[in-house]
Order: sequence, then C-alpha cells, then structure tokens
Amino acid sequence: MSAERIDGKAFAAKLRERVGAQANTFAEQTGRKPGLAVVLVGEDPASEVYVRAKGKATIAAGMASFEHRLAADTDQQTLIDLVERLNADEAVDGILVQLPLPKHLDEKAVIATIDPNKDVDGITPTNAGRLVLGMDTLVSCTPLGCLLLLRDLFDDLSGLDAVVIGRSILFGKPMAQLLLSENCTVTMAHSRTRDLKSLLRRADIVVAAVGVPNLIRGDWLKPGSVVLDGGINRLDPEPGEAKGRIVGDVAYDEATEHVRAITPVPGGVGATTIAVLLRNTLVAAYRNEGLEVLQDL
Ligand code: GUN
Repeated sequence: MSAERIDGKAFAAKLRERVGAQANTFAEQTGRKPGLAVVLVGEDPASEVYVRAKGKATIAAGMASFEHRLAADTDQQTLIDLVERLNADEAVDGILVQLPLPKHLDEKAVIATIDPNKDVDGITPTNAGRLVLGMDTLVSCTPLGCLLLLRDLFDDLSGLDAVVIGRSILFGKPMAQLLLSENCTVTMAHSRTRDLKSLLRRADIVVAAVGVPNLIRGDWLKPGSVVLDGGINRLDPEPGEAKGRIVGDVAYDEATEHVRAITPVPGGVGATTIAVLLRNTLVAAYRNEGLEVLQDL
C-alpha cells in the first residue's frame, strides 16, 4: 500500500488566493489594507528566513507588512514599549513576535502584552483561554493549518483517536484543543512519554512536532491512519552534499507503507503556516473594523 501524499503547498496556494481576494474587498470597504507587524529580536538565521518569507507573502496577498528588527541585546522594556505602540497603531491588525526570543527576555510577559484582538498567533492568555473554553478566537497558525488539512480528509473527526506529540504553546497544546473541539479522543505525548510506540498503535490521527528526525518509525503507525508531520529537522550533510536534507519527525518512506495519508517534509504542514497567518490577519482586520468576514476562510 502506498499512502496519499497530502499536498500542503497546494492547500496553501488555494487559501492564499481566497485571502488575497478578500483582502482586496477589505481595502475597498475600509480604504486601507489589512496590516501585519512582525517583530524579530536578534539574528537567528532560521527566524530570519521565516520573517522574510512572511513579509513577502503579506505584500503578495495585498496586505501591509511592518517589520521591526531589534538587536539581540534589546532589553525587556524596549520590546514591551514596541508591542504597546503596535497595539495602539490603527494600521496594524495583527502582531507576531517571532519566537523563540533571546534567553534574557521574558517571553511570557511579552506575549501577555499583545492585544488579544491583534494576536494572530493565538498565544495570549486571553486567546489561549478562549480556545480551551471552546469560544471563537484567533488560533495558532500551524495547528489551525493541520485542522484544515484534516477537515479535507475526514467528513467527521468525531470519536477518532488522535495522538499529538509535542506540547509547545504554538503547536502541541492548541492542536490538542482543536482536536478535542472536533470530538476526537486526544492523547498528548512529549519528551517524557514512556511508551510512544504503544500509543501510536491505536491512533487514527498522528500529529507530530517534536524536532527529532525520523523518530517515529513506519511500523509504529496504525494501518490506515493519517499522519501530519510538523517536524522540520536538518540532517548532517551526506558526502557530496553542501547542506543536510530537511526531514520530519516521521520516517516518511516507511510510513507510506502503512498509513492512508501523510504530509511530506518539506511541502506539508510547514507550507500551510504562512497562508493561515494571512488568514488570521484578515480575520483580525475585519473584527477590528467591526465588520463580518464575508466568506468562510
Ligand atoms: N517561530 C516559529 N514558528 C512561529 C510562529 O508560528 N509564530 C511565532 N510567533 N514564532 C514562531
């Protein structure tokens, strides 16, 4: 059996098209573009790549992009002051503070300063609480992307066994909440979990984001299950390669022999994140203007 390859890129392209069209409508209705501010502290190369990609995609979708780059030794108060200025800026609908922050900064305090109505990552205490309470809210981009992919694969997620591996505030925790709201039976696994293999034997849905290359072997997975791999891990270069290959947390080739469908890495889960960020920014823009979003995004 060879599994269906879930095409995150194609999904993202369609979502970006819908968001772009609706962003134009927003601009006609309000006389301004939806605006996304991204704050990057320091020079982490991976974060640099993400932030540049986010800025390009924002402009391509007909939105305004505001990039704020701060030095690695920026102090807490300077960062909080910037977030407060962005909270007050009417041209800014969404604020994303790129994580992780340098170690000397208090990440939780910075996140708690973001206006929940502009929190396109869904990680402020208000929005995380709203998600747990089953209230409508902005939800972290990568888990929401995963949920949208799953909705394309299943008519109904109700009663399915789901295992989420990883418990970060941006991925594992909101992912588990989203699956719970779809009436899945959710198990959260993480680095201290004793017997991941036996949990996976009964999982209809596996969502992985642990950052350990090829951790999950194909024969651990339940035949016919669906696997979303959020891992992005660079291997050491093979002889003759300048850079190592990027792989996920799941041994892809092995898994395709067992499962019904799986996302590749790259081109799967990760490819959806920026499209969902644009979607969240547009939803925030409509709400901040007191208007209804016209179509289901
Ligand atoms: N770092 C890696 N992914 C993300 C994301 O989705 N949001 C933020 N704020 N930081 C990230």
